Amino acid sequence: MKLTARLAAISVSCLAVTAALREDQVLLSHGEEQHLAPLNVAIIGAGAGGASSAYHLSKFAEAAGFPVNITIFERNSYVGGRTTTVNAYDDPSLPVELGGSIFVNLNRIMVDAVREFNLSTGAFRAADDEIPGASLAVWDGRAFIVTQESEGGWWDIAKLLWKYGLAPLRTRNLMKSTTGQFMEMYKEPIFPFKSLTQAVEDVGLLPATAVTGEQYMHANGIKGAFGHDIVQASTRVNYAQNLKYIHGLEAMVCMAAEGAMAVEGGNWQIFNNMIAAANATTMLETSVTSMKRHGDSYLLAYHSAAEETSLDLQAQVFDAVILAAPYQFANLSLAFPLVHVPDKIPYVQLHVTLLTSPHLISPAFFDLPADKPSPRVILTTLPSDEEPKQGVEGCGSPGFFSISLLRPVTNPHSGRREYLYKIFSPSPPNSTFLTRMLGLQPTNDRPETGISKDISWMYRKVWHSYPYELPRVIFEEIQLDENLWYTSGIESFISTMETSSLSGMNVARLIADKWRAEMLGAASPEIRQPSLLPEARPA
Ligand SMILES: Cc1cc2nc3c(=O)[nH]c(=O)nc-3n(C[C@H](O)[C@H](O)[C@H](O)COP(=O)(O)OP(=O)(O)OC[C@H]3O[C@@H](n4cnc5c(N)ncnc54)[C@H](O)[C@@H]3O)c2cc1C
Ligand SMILES: *[C@@H]1O[C@H](CO)[C@@H](O)[C@H](O)[C@H]1NC(C)=O
Ligand SMILES: *[C@@H]1O[C@H](CO)[C@@H](O)[C@H](O)[C@H]1NC(C)=O
Ligand SMILES: *[C@@H]1O[C@H](CO)[C@@H](O)[C@H](O)[C@H]1NC(C)=O
Ligand SMILES: *[C@@H]1O[C@H](CO)[C@@H](O)[C@H](O)[C@H]1NC(C)=O
Ligand SMILES: *[C@@H]1O[C@H](CO)[C@@H](O)[C@H](O)[C@H]1NC(C)=O
Repeated sequence: MKLTARLAAISVSCLAVTAALREDQVLLSHGEEQHLAPLNVAIIGAGAGGASSAYHLSKFAEAAGFPVNITIFERNSYVGGRTTTVNAYDDPSLPVELGGSIFVNLNRIMVDAVREFNLSTGAFRAADDEIPGASLAVWDGRAFIVTQESEGGWWDIAKLLWKYGLAPLRTRNLMKSTTGQFMEMYKEPIFPFKSLTQAVEDVGLLPATAVTGEQYMHANGIKGAFGHDIVQASTRVNYAQNLKYIHGLEAMVCMAAEGAMAVEGGNWQIFNNMIAAANATTMLETSVTSMKRHGDSYLLAYHSAAEETSLDLQAQVFDAVILAAPYQFANLSLAFPLVHVPDKIPYVQLHVTLLTSPHLISPAFFDLPADKPSPRVILTTLPSDEEPKQGVEGCGSPGFFSISLLRPVTNPHSGRREYLYKIFSPSPPNSTFLTRMLGLQPTNDRPETGISKDISWMYRKVWHSYPYELPRVIFEEIQLDENLWYTSGIESFISTMETSSLSGMNVARLIADKWRAEMLGAASPEIRQPSLLPEARPA
């Protein structure tokens, strides 16, 4: 139902809408017996984008004095989407991130939420100092080309200056200026933005997204091996992409690692708390399967996995819908033409393997002498004579993107001290790979098929983790239909927990503003003065 019609239906004659101005709120006061029906909003997806949409929509609606009733549909049995944990050894006291793992100081929504919800964060550390081996190194498939001995942080400037001259400082400055421009997207006059393309242009980031990371660095006077050795190691671990193909902005985002942190027990708790704070009804294991237009509202049909027996779909009408999942993976059948159909874009298929073992990474795996311990975190780049490839071929000769010794753990079954590892690769690590990595005898152990004394626990997951971030200057539309909004288009710009959260906050604000404008349009003219709408942007 159109909002103006909704208001009319509450019988304007006895409603006696009067405007009351209290600070920056617009309050509609009406007879005691009258209740403004809430705006019913459906959110498809309980990941960062959906949770942030719910949280911010409830805040914006509350600030404006309008009731909102939010229902979140989630196909999975858990909240968090690509931000989720699994339990090492299946022991709930040992959660480990399977998807989105770290965020940084700059990530305002994440950091504010951590504070508001009183969550604890741990600084992201590669591993315990008591474990032998360098803290981090970059492997090119043949040799370690960069090694960082201690936890000095990524910007171990002096050492890098010696090797790469001014390139690290120039890269850092470039990163600072691009992230500074990005932060403008949280503020007026850019926020809220109806067009992501326009917002990116307005903050001046098109030159960074229009070209590859390699081109962007060259254009900014950054030459030499630093891009290949360091920035590319970072784009590969973060996005499974090479510097020659990923766009310049996303390459800079990879270098913005200062103040890295993670929520103890799992980042998904941020999103769970956001949903709770929004008083949203969450329907887990429930897939939205189709949508029909119903005037300006939408009839959503959904199917609950928990109710296998009932073949009948359930359906419900909503005034507005937020699609907070990549359109191409949402499997929605739409009984009406969208004003904008999101383009299908290629996503990385990333294999994440978590495992525990009493063994350290074998030095022999990297052709190191037996008495030289392997680094604890191994990032990769390509050999200098190997042409970087695009897409699924991008991993090239190293065969994996990263191997991380996350932390030492105590095996709850044996009480033995072991190590928890995470591997990112373009295909599932096979038995040969794991056997060599841990320096095992190749004959008896078959890690891919079973748990052995050498690999005590293993978990494999294939994600559509993020898009291939190819250079572009046009970004996906946010409003797909009159009252249908889309958060996931931001992933082609920057794909992180924070940017999905920003997209959710933006959509929430657009909905709140639209609703308020319609309410005021339907109400008496004296409350339509712009001065009563301090938060609203001029059209
Ligand atoms: C391995 C990995 C590592 C990463 N590392 C980082 C990192 O360190 N830092 C960082 O910031 N980001 C990281 N990311 C990216 C980050 O996790 C994502 O960008 C972010 O979580 C995306 O959130 P989202 O809400 O936009 O999408 P999603 O989390 O994908 O949420 C969409 C949800 O919608 C649901 N859904 C889809 N269709 C339907 C339907 N029809 N009905 C009901 N529900 C539906 C899905 O089940 C899903 O839960 C990583 C991702 C991966 C996979
Ligand atoms: C709020 O949404 C729920 C569905 O999640 C619905 O059952 C309920 O009737 C709605 N409440 C109002 C007041 O519209
Ligand atoms: C915040 O969490 C800490 C422990 O994590 C607890 O001691 C403290 O009481 C909590 N504060 C609030 C306001 O919930
Ligand atoms: C959520 O509901 C509780 C009570 O059920 C109420 O006190 C609170 O104000 C609501 N919060 C929002 C944001 O609507
Ligand atoms: C979505 O649909 C495709 C093709 O119809 C199917 O292969 C896939 O399994 C579906 N995904 C989900 C999660 O339902
Ligand atoms: C195992 O994986 C490696 C790459 O890591 C590959 O070269 C090898 O062919 C694979 N072996 C088998 C038996 O599949």
